[in-house]
Amino acid sequence: MKRVALLGATGSIGRQAIEIVNAHPELELCAAASGSSSLDDVDVPLKQVGGDLTELLERAQPDVVLNAVVGFAGIHATLWALEHGVDLALANKESLVAAGELALSAQERGGGRILPVDSEHSALYQCLQGRDPETVHSLVLTASGGPFRGRSRESLAAVTVDEALAHPTWRMGRKITVDSATLANKGLELIEAHWLFGIDFGRIEVVVHPSSIVHGLVRFRDGAALAHVGYPDMRVPISYALAHPDRPATPVAALDFSGALTLSFEPPDLEVFPLLALAREAGEGGGTFPCAYNASNEIAVAAFLDGQIGFLDIAATVEETLGRVVGAPARDLHDLVEADSEARRLAARRLIAA
Ligand SMILES: NC(=O)c1ccc[n+]([C@@H]2O[C@H](COP(=O)([O-])OP(=O)(O)OC[C@H]3O[C@@H](n4cnc5c(N)ncnc54)[C@H](OP(=O)(O)O)[C@@H]3O)[C@@H](O)[C@H]2O)c1
Repeated sequence: MKRVALLGATGSIGRQAIEIVNAHPELELCAAASGSSSLDDVDVPLKQVGGDLTELLERAQPDVVLNAVVGFAGIHATLWALEHGVDLALANKESLVAAGELALSAQERGGGRILPVDSEHSALYQCLQGRDPETVHSLVLTASGGPFRGRSRESLAAVTVDEALAHPTWRMGRKITVDSATLANKGLELIEAHWLFGIDFGRIEVVVHPSSIVHGLVRFRDGAALAHVGYPDMRVPISYALAHPDRPATPVAALDFSGALTLSFEPPDLEVFPLLALAREAGEGGGTFPCAYNASNEIAVAAFLDGQIGFLDIAATVEETLGRVVGAPARDLHDLVEADSEARRLAARRLIAA
């Protein structure tokens, strides 16, 4: 029996995780948390609405933490799991992007595993299983391209929140859905992949693949590539991360080739979607640049969802914030929280000026 602490239990990933846990007798929820929504309908011994997630984790002593909180708010739980050698099923990519080296040092001390929940990283993790790192040529992350794929930059100036939330292939929470429309989500995933797999940014490529059937590919030095394919359904990577190394059945259909199934790929448009290129720059810059990228993006996306700024202002806010921060490495969590706050402050100031 594996005891699961589910953080972000009321969200898109959280709800699907509850379904997976309920379907598998070897998984048991021992704790659940949300930010402010009620957890009355979740049957679990320990629950917490708001407050310090690490206190809940201390009380619960889980075997695995599923961090499905959205945003930097998930950082303490990520570091707690890594520091305590508890398996971390990681949906909260923002925490790994922001913490980077701090997270890896915590993992080195604690010895726990990071089991990616992001479908692309789960795909790459599976393609890399048992491979000699020496044989890996490069990683390929696929992106659906979001609802604005193929659009011109000018045409995006006046898009509405509803249009940005109309994702073609995935049903997700509001923040990540906007991130998918700007390609910031793929930018965060690029940095996440760098830390998860220890691969240089120059060897991680992003490719637009509109149907979201191929979740990720690993190219090897002999010219072969392994891909992970399946219908876009987060219950697959959630189940994989929670049950690892087992691979239990899910209700997701097997890939069907009896109808037409066309797989197409194209390069991302970095002019129209500058947040992808900015993420690469922030990742290569290192230090707290990725933390600032994430923080300013969170502030800008919240303002966009609130109707305060236009779609193109999201990237402009992140770009301007990155131009103003120092990006010095964080020695500890305190430094990181400071860097996050400073980037939020700069981004908010830019929004007032916009
Ligand atoms: N959805 C997907 O398909 C998907 C795919 C890949 C990766 N992810 C990643 O998974 C994470 C969650 O995404 P989501 O789409 O599930 O988001 P979501 O639907 O917005 O849910 C977010 C969850 O986080 C909780 N939360 C927010 N702030 C919190 C805080 N300060 N303390 C504790 N809990 C807090 C929310 O609680 P309340 O309900 O009280 O606000 C909610 O339960 C994100 O990092 C996202 O990038 C999601």
